[in-house]
Amino acid sequence: MNVALADHLLTTTRSVRKRLDLRRPVDPALIERAIEVALQAPTGSNSQGWHFVVVTDAEKRAGLGALYKRAWDLYASGKLPARAELPPDDPRAKQLPRIIESAAYLAEHLHEVPVHVIPCVEGRVENAGALAQASVYGSILPAVWSFMLALRARGLGSAWTTLHILYEHEAAALLGLPPTMTQAALLPVAHYTGAEFKPAKRLPARTQTHWNAWGKRR
Ligand SMILES: Cc1cc2nc3c(=O)[nH]c(=O)nc-3n(C[C@H](O)[C@H](O)[C@H](O)COP(=O)(O)O)c2cc1C
Repeated sequence: MNVALADHLLTTTRSVRKRLDLRRPVDPALIERAIEVALQAPTGSNSQGWHFVVVTDAEKRAGLGALYKRAWDLYASGKLPARAELPPDDPRAKQLPRIIESAAYLAEHLHEVPVHVIPCVEGRVENAGALAQASVYGSILPAVWSFMLALRARGLGSAWTTLHILYEHEAAALLGLPPTMTQAALLPVAHYTGAEFKPAKRLPARTQTHWNAWGKRR
């Protein structure tokens, strides 16, 4: 195992929005191979209830782009629950303007991104308890991240997005999804432009790690 290479992939796979190449076509074989890699991820009770809905049809991408833009407009105007205010010196607060600018760009251009991928999982948990929720979402989200990593290793960028799920029923109708299916995300996929990506500034592992009891450091 090349640890340095693995760590590089894991620490530099960023949300790619403005650097998605909207003109360069994507070979479907690259998407298929990345899905094969992703399906090595764990699932609860080995359920493997995962599905990757790959959308290249321009009309369908326009439909998804319109749903996403509607949700983005609500989010940007503060009409969706947002996270708590952060002190201005918090690294997350400093990153926010850049992320918002990048996310606004994606909302304007999503329909132009050559491939949209909606990872889905069998089962609905809106009325279920914490164990069922953790099990169902936990049986698709590791595969989604593996998919993004596998894309990145092949020169393809993506960004984890969830906003269109506000209109999940419209998206399900557009794509003919069965009513038992849960949509986990919408990943815009394209070749990326420019060179390398860098690790992001994150909260330190020390303050986010608890040894044996909450708040106990090693
Ligand atoms: C659960 C989840 C939902 C997200 N939803 C969106 C979204 O709807 N739109 C978007 O542009 N980015 C979305 N993101 C991406 C985050 O904004 C991004 O991961 C964060 O800003 C850190 O940037 P990085 O991924 O480049 O490190 C989401 C990420 C996660 C994990």
